[in-house]
Formats: sequence, C-alpha cells, structure tokens
Amino acid sequence: MIKLSPSLLSANFWELKKDIELIEKNGAEYLHLDVMDGHFVPNISFGIPVIKSLRKYSSLVFDVHLMISDPLRYVNDFANAGADIITFHYESDSDTAATIKAIHDAGKKAGLSIKPKTSPEVLDKFINDLDLVLIMTVEPGFGGQKLIPETLESVKYARKLIDKTGKAIDLEVDGGIKLDNVSLLTQAGADTIVAGSSVFGAEDIGKATAEFKKF
Ligand code: DX5
Ligand code: ZN
Repeated sequence: MIKLSPSLLSANFWELKKDIELIEKNGAEYLHLDVMDGHFVPNISFGIPVIKSLRKYSSLVFDVHLMISDPLRYVNDFANAGADIITFHYESDSDTAATIKAIHDAGKKAGLSIKPKTSPEVLDKFINDLDLVLIMTVEPGFGGQKLIPETLESVKYARKLIDKTGKAIDLEVDGGIKLDNVSLLTQAGADTIVAGSSVFGAEDIGKATAEFKKF
C-alpha cells in the first residue's frame, strides 16, 4: 500500500483544521508542505510560521518540500518549526552532502528532489545517506499542472537504485497525480504519493483520500 502525502498548497486555508482532520481520519500518513521562495521557483507559498502553527494541532508526518534557494541556511529553522522530513532540491545552490548532514544533525529525515529534466544519476552519490527521494513529475512551482510522462523513467531508475541499497527509503512522486494515473507511478516503483489538487481540491476530501489509499 502507498503512503499518501496530500499537498497543503491546494487547500482552502479557511477550512484548514477541518480538512487536515479529514485527510488524517481517512488514512493519509504525511502532510506535504510546499515552501516556495519566489527565487528558486517563480511562486511564493508559505513558510516557517505556518508550519510551526500547524504542528501544534496535527500528528501527521510533516513532509516539507523546500523549493528555495540556499536550503542549507534554513534547515534548523524548518527543523525547529516541526518538520519531520526535510526535502530540498539537488538543483539548489547549497552543497548537497552538507545539507543532508545538517538535516540529520537536526534529528530529521533527509529527502533529495530532482526536477523533471535532471538526470536521476545524480542521486547515485547520495542514495545511501537519504531517507527519501522525491522525483518531480511536473516543473516545481505550481499546483494543478499535468504530469510529464518522461519522468516515469526517473522513477524507475530511482526504484532500482533504492532497491540496491536494501534500505527503507521512500520513493515519492509529486505533481499532476490523480486517481486515474496513480497506478502508472506505483508500477514505476513509487511508494509515496503527493496529491494536491486531487485531494485538497476535491469536492469530497475524505473520499478522495480514501480512494488514493486503495492503491
Ligand atoms: C509543485 C508542488 C506540488 C504541488 C502538487 O511544485 O511541489 O507539491 O502542490 O500539486 P498537484 O497535485 O495539484 O499537481
Ligand atoms: Zn511538493
């Protein structure tokens, strides 16, 4: 069975308490928190104070996806705000090994993400130190985009790489994932599914969560 990580980016912030309780009650394990700085990606979302505030009310695993420049500089801030998993981008300007180490030193799980056009081979060097690999299935920056089919090849590559380590490393996919294409991703080897508009944007959030959890 997959792990589901609904992305808060598509949520109605007025209804946040009710909607987060709905995903939790219907089986979501993670809450995906997309942090965008208007520099690494051309969009701005939310940051440390929002995560800190939600932490008091939810026991979901906080799966923080940093789409920011210089993530190393902010690792401790996100750790203190209550992140459980901190995922940053290989394409960012921070040193990858140093950032993974800083996340672990802060007592958190480390995730490394690649954009659709980045070769998955860049993961080789770091795989043994990671707790999660995040393959972006759209260009990061916005919710509600269409999945780029070529990214499935990167998912397959990452699956093999993870299996070779014999470790329990999450293989997460993010962007354009709906009930009607999620099986493509699980077949390619993904085990952790991010869904924004198809969960928090659904008419019935509880039902959408439960439907995803059947995969
Ligand atoms: C995009 C974000 C995603 C986004 C996914 O840059 O990283 O997590 O919220 O949204 P959907 O599922 O609507 O594509
Ligand atoms: Zn994301």
